[in-house]
Amino acid sequence: MINTIKSTVAFIKERTDFEPEVGIILGTGLGGLVNHIEIAHSLPYNEIPNFPVSTVEGHAGRLIFGTLGGKKVVAMQGRFHYYEGYAPEQVVFPVRVMKFLGIKTLFVSNASGGINSSFRVGDLMVITDHINLIPNVLIGKNCAELGTRFPDMSEPYSKALGAIATEVAAERGIKLQYGCYVGTTGPTFETPKEYGYFKAIGGDAAGMSTTPEVIAARHMGLPVFGISIITNAAFSGQKSTHEEVQEEGAKAEKRMTALIMGMLERM
Ligand code: HPA
Repeated sequence: MINTIKSTVAFIKERTDFEPEVGIILGTGLGGLVNHIEIAHSLPYNEIPNFPVSTVEGHAGRLIFGTLGGKKVVAMQGRFHYYEGYAPEQVVFPVRVMKFLGIKTLFVSNASGGINSSFRVGDLMVITDHINLIPNVLIGKNCAELGTRFPDMSEPYSKALGAIATEVAAERGIKLQYGCYVGTTGPTFETPKEYGYFKAIGGDAAGMSTTPEVIAARHMGLPVFGISIITNAAFSGQKSTHEEVQEEGAKAEKRMTALIMGMLERM
């Protein structure tokens, strides 16, 4: 696996000659952040050796290198989900590649259903912890060059980055919620009882991504900032649809962009 990562990194370095400091995974409806990146290079996934190809509607697939908020970033426009049928190590492959390209921090965004009944559709939730209900990506032989066999997960999401988010949000008048993200396999949205179960075990929002990438990042010692757009009121008992998720994701884009750019400027 490590050789596959290294050969992909070598290919990318040949093409881009760019050293990103920050990696960003753009989730559902957040592709618009790309419009603010001063793009230096853009590589479609299907041109990158060993990269999986994204299949979900609304997820473009390319790796973008450029400057955002004064920082050199690499952004994944389009990510890979377990429910698409990828093996867990394929889902996290780009994160490992970004680490070997030199990133020191990972930003992750996603859409999720609000379980905490004080949340409103459209809220941004800083992810402070997660409960991973997707098969763990680190199952199997451990690669010591990536990290230790039994990684610590006491601070899955960086408190320091969370504090920066709080400051930036206060300055820019952006309302933030904080909470625990429950990562599920999907592709079904949850039944009422499943949402109730997630709430009972301490979840505030549920989504179908992120925890595999965060586990892979923490395995490699990368600090993570995660933020979720609450796109549907899962606790309300109303129907959930992919269209609604994308629509609400798009509406939150401006605030998300302002927050992330403000954070990058301050880091
Ligand atoms: N459940 C799981 N994933 C989601 C949801 C949800 O309610 N909303 C957006 N992604």
